[in-house]
Amino acid sequence: TTPLRIGIAGLGTVGAGVVKIVQARANLIAQRGGRPITISAVSARTRDKDRGVDLSAYAWEDDPVVLARREDIDVFVELMGGSDGPAKAATEAAIAAGKDVVTANKAMLAVHGQALAEAAEAADRVIRFEAAVAGGIPVVKALTEGLAGNQITRVMGVMNGTCNYILTRMESEGLPYEKVFEEANALGYLEADPTLDVGGIDAGHKLSLLAAIAFGTRVDFPAMELEGIERISIDDIHHAADMGFRIKLLGVAQMTGRGLEQRMSPCLVPATSPLGQLEGPTNMVVLEGDAVGQIVLRGAGAGEGPTASAVMADVIDIARGTRVSTFGQPAAGLAQSRAARASAA
Ligand code: NAP
Ligand code: HSE
Repeated sequence: TTPLRIGIAGLGTVGAGVVKIVQARANLIAQRGGRPITISAVSARTRDKDRGVDLSAYAWEDDPVVLARREDIDVFVELMGGSDGPAKAATEAAIAAGKDVVTANKAMLAVHGQALAEAAEAADRVIRFEAAVAGGIPVVKALTEGLAGNQITRVMGVMNGTCNYILTRMESEGLPYEKVFEEANALGYLEADPTLDVGGIDAGHKLSLLAAIAFGTRVDFPAMELEGIERISIDDIHHAADMGFRIKLLGVAQMTGRGLEQRMSPCLVPATSPLGQLEGPTNMVVLEGDAVGQIVLRGAGAGEGPTASAVMADVIDIARGTRVSTFGQPAAGLAQSRAARASAA
């Protein structure tokens, strides 16, 4: 059987995790994907950095755009990060060169996801991003496949592990925001630009992607009401606790008579509720469908293993022959562009 050949741009926390899974689970992956998955080439900023994985069997490219266009790859796996710059340029190059794309990059997708998905569809390619939302929790798959028979009525949850860690540590240890922020930084939870985390932007990016999938709308991050946790004081947390509540950075997306409402902000939740009980750098996503009722998904929203697990789920899906882009199934914008092309033909 013909192997599926991947090229990986970005060998940091997630990229190294993907290499480890491909190397350690080759037989299982071949069984699950129906054919072997091999790595042809890799790219990162610095070539001679010890990444804890053996890369000697793979070609090296300094430039991720060159990697994305290589003839010996079928799938471009983008794990560099950043909404623009090399991540976007290489993703566009990959699509133009006829490659499928798997990415964990929520920042890029929240801003350019719609355009990239349309470019992929026009080129008959797929772009998949399970890892971009809630790390290891298979929430994109849950929405697009498991709940495909439902009208989704609401999506909500805690989607930034750093903020949840900071808020729970402030409460349990009585530590001020600044001190716990430093702890989170030392533990490596923060994005390269930490304002993305504590400003609610990273969680907002994720919610905007889930909302587009759930409600078949275009990704509309700028329309989101957004507030982060920077102004939450230890006194706020203690007052909430006295009344039986916890403060969580909670995202809610729902369709109303006025259209799609998307909000990411600190909220009071009952301390005894599943969301109130969520501790540490964990995520929880609550999905509501008209037929299924409420589904609660909880797990690691970040980290090497969990995020690489989600990347591999997409790669294996492509190996199996999946030709549906994540936005491609329910997104009204894409359905229209398809119809428009058909009528123009
Ligand atoms: P990271 O540890 O900072 O790794 C980034 C990698 O990209 C590094 O290997 C870096 O090279 C490489 N890179 C950066 N700029 C490059 C360029 N111009 N050309 C070539 N390579 C370049 O980041 P990460 O945590 O793995 O995150 C990767 C992506 O996954 C991001 O989009 C992030 O938002 C997303 N994500 C991460 C997590 C998580 O838990 N970490 C969870 C969900 C989603 P060097 O190593 O040589 O510097
Ligand atoms: N900084 C993010 C978080 C990483 O803390 O949730 C995973 O997206």
